[in-house]
Parts: sequence; structure tokens; C-alpha cells
Amino acid sequence: MDRIAPTKAYRLLEAGPIVLVTTRHDSIPNIMTMGFHMMIQHAPPLIGCIIGPWDHSYKALRETGECVIAVPTVDLARKVVKIGNCSGAETDKFKKFRLTPLPAAEVGAPLVAECLANIECRVADTSLVGKYNLFVLEAVAIWIDRTRKERRTLHHNGDGTFTADGRVLDLKDLMVQWKQFQVPL
Ligand SMILES: Cc1cc2nc3c(=O)[nH]c(=O)nc-3n(C[C@H](O)[C@H](O)[C@H](O)COP(=O)(O)O)c2cc1C
Repeated sequence: MDRIAPTKAYRLLEAGPIVLVTTRHDSIPNIMTMGFHMMIQHAPPLIGCIIGPWDHSYKALRETGECVIAVPTVDLARKVVKIGNCSGAETDKFKKFRLTPLPAAEVGAPLVAECLANIECRVADTSLVGKYNLFVLEAVAIWIDRTRKERRTLHHNGDGTFTADGRVLDLKDLMVQWKQFQVPL
């Protein structure tokens, strides 16, 4: 094996689904693209998200403590990248990218109608925001579009290329210790 720079870790580990994060600030909805996130805990469900002060969304999240993590599929790939290239400080991104904000149940930030799933979140812990821009969010409600035909999510390889979901390997019979996690969504 060849040794490569430790700063390249994200190129190997980032590839969870690329997501969109919505917020609402002064009643204006906004949306950004996010690749750096991870599950932290099953119950209560905690999610770690890196959202930096260079993002307009950062201010909204700090001030409102609420957001929605929307999960797009491959048909939205080009919009997902473009949403991450401009700021809600200057642009109404819902309008520009023809996305539909829907009211959420528990938070002020909107759902994205065109996405496969929407996770309503409240900020649970900000202790690592100053050091790492790491918000710990608690999922408080989830919406899934069961009618959607396209269900393949996108995974950012960290360099502007994306991998779309491919073949599913069903190894449930080997997961003998973790049967409780095998229920369908
Ligand atoms: C593929 C991709 C992944 C990104 N991942 C993140 C991320 O994990 N965290 C972050 O703070 N910004 C990330 N960005 C950058 C934000 O999406 C970008 O700064 C966006 O314009 C912020 O929008 P806002 O100013 O309206 O909040 C990503 C951008 C792209 C294109």
C-alpha cells in the first residue's frame, strides 16, 4: 500500500449520503448542501453535523436551534451541487432551484417536498461548535416519501465526484446480534 496524507481521510469516509439542510431565519427559508455528518446515537437519535460559520445557515441554526436534514436522490444531483455553491444571504435557493418548502411538524425549518426523506432536528449540544463547527442534533420527526420510484441516494467522494447507490447486499441472516435493527423503514 502507498502512504497518503492524513488530511485525505475525508476522501475515504465522507461517502455517507449527501444531504440538504434547511433552516428558517426571520421567516425566510434557506437550504445548503452537507457532506460531513454522522450518526452518534440510536436513542434518543443524535446526529453530528459540521456546519461552518462561512455558511449563512450557521447563523440560522445557532439562533433558532432547528433545522431539517433532507435526503435527496440521484435525480437531484446537479441541484445538490449548485445549492452548495451559493448562499442564502444573497439568493432565495428554494425559488432558484425550484424546490418546494413544506411545513414541518415540530420545527420551523421547512421540509423539501422533492426529497426522499426529511429529518426534523433540534440542536441538542453546541459544546463542540466553537472548536469543530460540530452541531449535535436530535432527530424529532422523520418523513419518508413511500411513493417515490427513484430511491438511490448520492455519496460525495470529496472531490466533486459522486457515487450513486448500486447493488444492495442482503446479509441480514449474518446480523445475528443485531436483529432489532432489521425492521423496514
Ligand atoms: C458536495 C458539497 C458538500 C458540502 N458539505 C458541506 C459540509 O459538510 N459542511 C459545510 O459547512 N458546508 C458544506 N458545503 C458547503 C455549503 O453547502 C455552502 O457553503 C453553501 O453555499 C452554504 O449555503 P448558505 O450560505 O445558504 O448556508 C458543501 C458543499 C458541497 C457542494
